[in-house]
Amino acid sequence: MTALKGNLIFGQSGGPTAVINSSAAGVFEEAFKHPDIIDKVYGAAHGIVGVLNEDFYDIGQEDPEEIKLLSGTPSSILGSCRYKLADPEQDEREYKKILEVFRKYNIRYFLYNGGNDSMDTCDKIARYLEQNDYECRVIGVPKTIDNDLWGTDHCPGFGSAAKFVATTTMEVFLDSRVYDRGMIIVLEIMGRHAGWLAASAALAQYKGYGPDLIYLPERGFDPKRMLEDVSEIYSRNRNVMIAVSEGVQTPDGRFIPELVSEVAVDAFGHKQLGGTAQVLANYLSEKLQGKNRAIELSLLQRSASHLASGTDIEEAYRVGVESVRAALEGASDVMLAFRRHEGEEYKIETFQMPLAEVANKEKTVPLEWINEEGNGLKSEYIDYALPLIQGEPRQEKSEGLPRFARFKKVQAGKR
Ligand code: F6P
Repeated sequence: MTALKGNLIFGQSGGPTAVINSSAAGVFEEAFKHPDIIDKVYGAAHGIVGVLNEDFYDIGQEDPEEIKLLSGTPSSILGSCRYKLADPEQDEREYKKILEVFRKYNIRYFLYNGGNDSMDTCDKIARYLEQNDYECRVIGVPKTIDNDLWGTDHCPGFGSAAKFVATTTMEVFLDSRVYDRGMIIVLEIMGRHAGWLAASAALAQYKGYGPDLIYLPERGFDPKRMLEDVSEIYSRNRNVMIAVSEGVQTPDGRFIPELVSEVAVDAFGHKQLGGTAQVLANYLSEKLQGKNRAIELSLLQRSASHLASGTDIEEAYRVGVESVRAALEGASDVMLAFRRHEGEEYKIETFQMPLAEVANKEKTVPLEWINEEGNGLKSEYIDYALPLIQGEPRQEKSEGLPRFARFKKVQAGKR
């Protein structure tokens, strides 16, 4: 195959993770190794929005030392977006613009780092470019703390968030048991419609410092049933810790915050979650007399690079590198995915999943990994999640605080 010469653009999309920038480092460092094929490496400001606005940076101008620091830097260094492209059959204006920008800047490699919605964006762009005979390799680079991308054993970002949730749960568990009169704690964990991350509170339980009850969106959630569960434990030992996914829904299909107020909706139609713990804690305090606290882990769980999983950092970097290699070898309209080898020792390999098979599907926690009562996890989950949280971050420090990457962000597009 003759090499496709041209420029590469990389974008980050959706909610950040503690390791999404490690994938960026992998993409940039690998792309720079092929100057005979890839001339310029661009970073899109705020994902696809930056492509549409011709707002992107020349990554070649960045200091290689700062690029190295990306693996210990949370957030999305280039900026992110939650922007839904129209269906090209209904409205192709934005696709025409993307094609125009790609032609103008000779973009032949488009790598997009995101979750479900971003893979859909990637797939639509790949198909449009192909239909319009513009040769460009489009690769989806996976990431999401929700761990719900279809077809892959797990997603970069999940292991670090799970390690943070498990560790924090253990720490809070100890703190919550100090008073003679006891306490009820409701811990709210992200993950939207999938309970993978909330389930990681079970890792704390596995260590003996865990919640008494864990509720996931995969099983229907009835506040009255929770009250019964809580009352029973509370009457026995005055201390109750509950881990709940932000995505649990009542039997009539409402998220918990919707029980008390209207919730905002994003471009993809996803309801803005958050506030579940407070609503449930208020409900419990009306019914039970004891002291209680609602703790929403919120952005802490996806930005805690100081507690990232070493395995996750390495794997995020690896998908970045391998995405570039796959594109150079001719792959397009695919996402890099992980396959886990069977056996005692944790080992993975990467493979390419057609984007059409990934887009708009959600992988949820297998129901058989959840206990009969729907308020805890079985050992299969522990076996699955433990290898993903192994290894420590090697974050650079300056005066006792993290030293994050600083980018110059030299404009390359004509805004
Ligand atoms: O990207 C996934 C995620 O972190 C979900 O777990 C969460 O529900 C959502 O993003 C929050 O979105 P935002 O950052 O737009 O508030």
